[in-house]
Amino acid sequence: MGNDAPIGVFDSGVGGLTVAREIMRQIPEERMVYFGDTARLPYGTKSKQTVIRYSRQIIRFLKTKHVKAIVIACNTATAQALEELQSETEIPVIGVIDAAARVASSVTKNGRIGVVGTTGTIESGMYTKVLKSYNPRVQVYGKACPLLVSLVEEGWLHDSVTEEVVSRYMKDLEYKSIDTLILGCTHYPLLRSVFRKAVGEAVTLVNPAYETAMELGRLLDREGLRCSADAGPADSKYEFYVSDAAEKFCSFANSILPYDIEQVRQINIEGYESEERAY
Ligand code: DGL
Repeated sequence: MGNDAPIGVFDSGVGGLTVAREIMRQIPEERMVYFGDTARLPYGTKSKQTVIRYSRQIIRFLKTKHVKAIVIACNTATAQALEELQSETEIPVIGVIDAAARVASSVTKNGRIGVVGTTGTIESGMYTKVLKSYNPRVQVYGKACPLLVSLVEEGWLHDSVTEEVVSRYMKDLEYKSIDTLILGCTHYPLLRSVFRKAVGEAVTLVNPAYETAMELGRLLDREGLRCSADAGPADSKYEFYVSDAAEKFCSFANSILPYDIEQVRQINIEGYESEERAY
């Protein structure tokens, strides 16, 4: 595997495409293999043990593609599994929480930061832990917003029902005086304008997908892993794999990516079980 090897990116399903999209925009010369675990989503309601097991299988699959680095493009999988996966994987593995937390802790003026995400992400306390590692004095207010993933996947991005749901969730943060809000779920950057409307102009919105693509660029520089030349047109540069419902994945992807995907391959991810680590 050399510098021209692809970057492995994975998520529980389509949400991680918001991260893939940022990588395509920010480091367009790199190749990418994306895996969406569409057979087993959502991860946001699963136990830590299950998310770790799923993530290990996916990493085994991505390694068969000879990836040079892996991005866990899922807030829940980052919260539940990043530490374990980093310690047992010989290539660099990054998640979506660290870069977002670092930016949030540096842009906040009053030290009061809100985080929205899945139940798994919020209950893990991982955003709080990482934010406090950057600034122990910040106050972190987490709010799980479990209905939003379905609304985004339904395509209700600019819809009065979605606005109502977001504003009800945001009511819980109303009196916390936050000046920064982390959109800590892959789907939420697609609801940026809805969150903006609910929290007002004074609150800085932090998008982990954007910050993670920036972080990936820095990682490639640091490790000397930048590819030597642009790998060519999107179709030959990017590969997409899912564990189920390839067509549905394809139409969602084509609604948010800068080009139309022609091929999505379905694989049996359970076949990548590591025997010594099986629970
Ligand atoms: N990708 C997940 C996340 O960012 C949201 C979808 C799910 O629950 O699997 O937390």
